[in-house]
Amino acid sequence: MIKFDFTYTLSDNVANGLTYDEINSFEQQITNFLTRFDENKPGFVNAVLTRKWVDSVNELSDFIFTFDNIVVLGIGGSALGNIAIQNALRPFNWNSLSSEERNGYLRVFIVDNVDPDYLSSVLDCINPKTTLFNIISKSGTTAEPMANYLIVRSILETHGLDPKEHLIFTTDSEKGVLRRIGREEGIRMLEIPPDVGGRFSVLTPVGLLSAKAAGLDIEELIIGAREAYERTIKSSLWENPAALLATIHYLHYKKGRNISVMMAYSNKLYYLADWYRQLWAESLGKMYDNEGNRVNVGQTPVKALGAVDQHSQVQLYNEGPDDKIITFLRTEKFDREITIPKLHENEPELAYLGGKKLSTLLNSEQIGTQLALAKHGRPSLTVSFPQIDEYHIGQFFMYYELATAITGELFNINPYDQPGVELGKKITYALMGRAGFEEFNYTQNVQKRV
Ligand code: PA5
Repeated sequence: MIKFDFTYTLSDNVANGLTYDEINSFEQQITNFLTRFDENKPGFVNAVLTRKWVDSVNELSDFIFTFDNIVVLGIGGSALGNIAIQNALRPFNWNSLSSEERNGYLRVFIVDNVDPDYLSSVLDCINPKTTLFNIISKSGTTAEPMANYLIVRSILETHGLDPKEHLIFTTDSEKGVLRRIGREEGIRMLEIPPDVGGRFSVLTPVGLLSAKAAGLDIEELIIGAREAYERTIKSSLWENPAALLATIHYLHYKKGRNISVMMAYSNKLYYLADWYRQLWAESLGKMYDNEGNRVNVGQTPVKALGAVDQHSQVQLYNEGPDDKIITFLRTEKFDREITIPKLHENEPELAYLGGKKLSTLLNSEQIGTQLALAKHGRPSLTVSFPQIDEYHIGQFFMYYELATAITGELFNINPYDQPGVELGKKITYALMGRAGFEEFNYTQNVQKRV
């Protein structure tokens, strides 16, 4: 199991930290919430308690393994989980390896933005003849993946390739233009469970297809998530990582720590912080509570990389405003190890490094940063991976999704909607001339001062 250490969030160890009484005061509310939650499980939990979604991906195995590349086109919750999984579980040079070195598994490209330089450079790397394009959009209408879809479809047609032999649509089971086109043209489709929102969808076909294509064990992702759920439902507050994550973040927010930094001491884990940023920001940043009162709550998630950001951000975290709670991600086992050579043994500034492992240096730096923060009265917690594999990454996703749901309860807001994002989408449609969205062209009323 991944391990959570909350030592440096408590008043025993940091000034203006939390007391046990403060935390315990939420025990009953969280117990009641989890009982209701388990009786009426949300879609993202049901998604890992069934084999249906894994099976739907496995059924496409024969088709996907005829390709050399998969390009995922999606944005937000339809991309960030894919990116996090690939970066955590495949080496950074994966797409540069030969097919043999990849054991025949696919190179994976994930295009979320509509930046022409970026998309062009990805398209330069692939041969459309040997490429599968997975268009992911829950709504089936979001401008960015739709624009990128039109571009790749036109490329396929220009090459005389049959789109239905190179496309998969991953979308809502009923709604949206992708579903309609897919049905009309007989394009292979994967279903996103109707009651799972984008940012909670990583362990559905949204994240599982590209993982499968890269040769990852998608069953283990699900097993890890399922075990995290079972532990959350069965455990009392102090044995319950999701409940403690929620309570501790909420209480520190109430003390003015309205920024949550996730700082990974592992390049592989760094992209989990990107996935977390969307989950925490979109789910908890809300204007109204469940009774319709205006509350404007939310904790701003920030990502950082250790040791790199020690030389960029950490001065601010130590001595700047006391408005942050830091989460460190670390691994006890790296896939590969390098021992620092013993050279310049007469130079004390270098000699102490000789013979030490690079991983020991990185993990010592994490402890050093955490202790320095504690000395400055800045709270932090640690999430430790015994190793970075499918099982532990699946656990991470589920613990954080559950922590988000519980924090939504503490804020008394709906963590599953995103009206602010939806408004931005409508204004974009209006600016791009989509019929039916004229009323959202707010630029007409703006008094410009440039
Ligand atoms: O979490 C969400 O619901 C959003 O961030 C979506 O994932 C994002 O807007 C993309 O939406 P869609 O998958 O409908 O294209």
